[in-house]
Amino acid sequence: MSTTPKVSVSTDRLAMTLPRLAEKKRLGEPIVMITAYDFPSAQIAEEAGVDIVLVGDSAAEVVLGYSSTVTVSIEEMLMLAAATRRGLRTPLLVADLPFGAYEASDEQAVLSSQRLVKEAGADAVKLEGGGPARVSRVGAIVAAGIPVMGHVGLTPQSTTALGGRRAQGRTAERALAVAREARALEAAGCFAVVFEAIPAAVAAELTRLLSIPVIGIGAGADTDGQVLVLHDMLGIYPGQTKRHAKRYADLHSQMLAAVSEYAEDVRLGRFPTIENTFSIDPEELAKLVNALRSPRFEDD
Ligand code: KIV
Repeated sequence: MSTTPKVSVSTDRLAMTLPRLAEKKRLGEPIVMITAYDFPSAQIAEEAGVDIVLVGDSAAEVVLGYSSTVTVSIEEMLMLAAATRRGLRTPLLVADLPFGAYEASDEQAVLSSQRLVKEAGADAVKLEGGGPARVSRVGAIVAAGIPVMGHVGLTPQSTTALGGRRAQGRTAERALAVAREARALEAAGCFAVVFEAIPAAVAAELTRLLSIPVIGIGAGADTDGQVLVLHDMLGIYPGQTKRHAKRYADLHSQMLAAVSEYAEDVRLGRFPTIENTFSIDPEELAKLVNALRSPRFEDD
């Protein structure tokens, strides 16, 4: 088995704050965001020094095995976000408001956001869309003291309404609609906004237009930051890499090889070996064997 390369870890890194994020945009320093859904993946994000960790509702597909993000519940998001919180110290922790947990009313949106903050320890929440109802939800959540990240372009919770998982803003008219939504989210108090699957040139124009940081996924290199889904970038599942993602590892192959090797070792008697085994003093063992064979053993 290959050894893991040592990564230098800074222990004096300051916790990410909203003013520091805004400063990063002002200074043109790229913002690094990644998804995480549990304690070990959060620890890795912490050690790697990312700026923002998103407990995305993509967990529905990549962790929980649902066929779409709309199925994941607020209870499931709370459990994943709480586990992620326990592995984090410095990155800003943003949790997705899942489908069905904020659309009904501003009150519902505030209550769900409060749960993500109080029960799971999220620093902020993210919601999808920038129409009038969503803008109203953002205003209510921000007024309740909870920071909100917006999300425009391809918004997977409304895949059916968008006509499938396809790039958005590919005509001037559609791009203007995205621009209006992003501006409205900014005006309502979002501290940042995700642009998903938007042509790079459109994202570049809109990033200049907005004063809040824009984090892109499939939106080119000129946004203020990038976000990737952890399982996409680590190659935890087999098959094609999505167009917007880059695979930095092929963990599926490595995990499969490791589990297959373990299975073979057990079947062939190669595991466990003496190193994986606890010992007992031979005299104690002899006493035990005698006791087990004694006719009184069953009665004791
Ligand atoms: O749920 C998610 O992982 C997301 C990212 C793709 C931004 O919303």
